[in-house]
Amino acid sequence: MATPRTMLIAGNWKMNGLENEALALAKGVVAGAADVRCALLVCPPSVQLSTVAAAVSGSGVALGGQDCHPSANGAHTGDVSAEMLSDIGCGYVIVGHSERRADHGESDALVRAKAEAAQRAGLTAVICVGETEAERDAGRADAVVAGQVTGSVPKDATAANTVIAYEPVWAIGTGRTPTPDDVQAIHRHLRDTVSANHGADFAAGVRLLYGGSVKPGNAVELMGLADVDGALVGGASLVAEDFLAIAASSA
Ligand code: PGA
Repeated sequence: MATPRTMLIAGNWKMNGLENEALALAKGVVAGAADVRCALLVCPPSVQLSTVAAAVSGSGVALGGQDCHPSANGAHTGDVSAEMLSDIGCGYVIVGHSERRADHGESDALVRAKAEAAQRAGLTAVICVGETEAERDAGRADAVVAGQVTGSVPKDATAANTVIAYEPVWAIGTGRTPTPDDVQAIHRHLRDTVSANHGADFAAGVRLLYGGSVKPGNAVELMGLADVDGALVGGASLVAEDFLAIAASSA
C-alpha cells in the first residue's frame, strides 16, 4: 500500500523583510502551528536563517533555504551550500524556483546538481517546475513540466528526500491561478511522469505542491485536489494569519 502523503504548506519568503520582521513572522507562524494538522515549512532569506531557526526551534515548523550551490564548499562568492543550510537547522531547500531559472539562467542540469547536493547534506529538496504563459498558450504545458521534472529530479531521489512544486510562471505573484481541473490534470501528469522515471513507489509517496497565487480564499479548493499534497506560498506566506489560514484549509 502506498505511503500516505502528509500535506506540506511551505512559505517562500523570497527577498522580503528585515530581521525584526522575519522574527515576528516566524513567531506568528509558530504561535498557530499547533492548531494545524499539516506540516509547515518556512524559507526565509539566507541571512535570516539563524534568527528564524531559533524562533522555530522545538515548534515542529521546519526551516528551509531558498537555494543552494551544488558544491559543499569552495570559491563560490555569495553562494551557500546545502551543508551550511543543514548545519544552521534547515531540513529543506528550494531548488529551481522559476525566479532563479529566469534571473540566474538555471538549467535543469544545474537544478538537478543542487537537488543532489541537498540529498548529500541530508536535506529534502523542493524542486520547482512550471510553464510560462506562452508555453501554456502553445499547448506545451504538459511537455514542458515533464521535461523539467525529468531533467531536474536526481536519478536516485527518494520520495522522502524530494518534494516537487508545480508553479506555473504566469500564476506567481499575479493573483491568477489555473482552474482546479487544470491543476489536478497537470499534477496527475507529473505523478505519471515520475512514476515512469522513478517507479511507482516514488510516485505514490512524493509530495506534489501547487504554487502560484495561493491565498486563504482559494486554498480549500486547490488543496482538496487528489494529486495536490500542499502548497508553496509566496506573497501570502508573509502574513502569518494568511499562511496559517491556508494551512488550516489543507488538513
Ligand atoms: P506567490 O508565489 O504565492 O506570491 O504567487 C509563489 C512562489 O513563487 O513560490
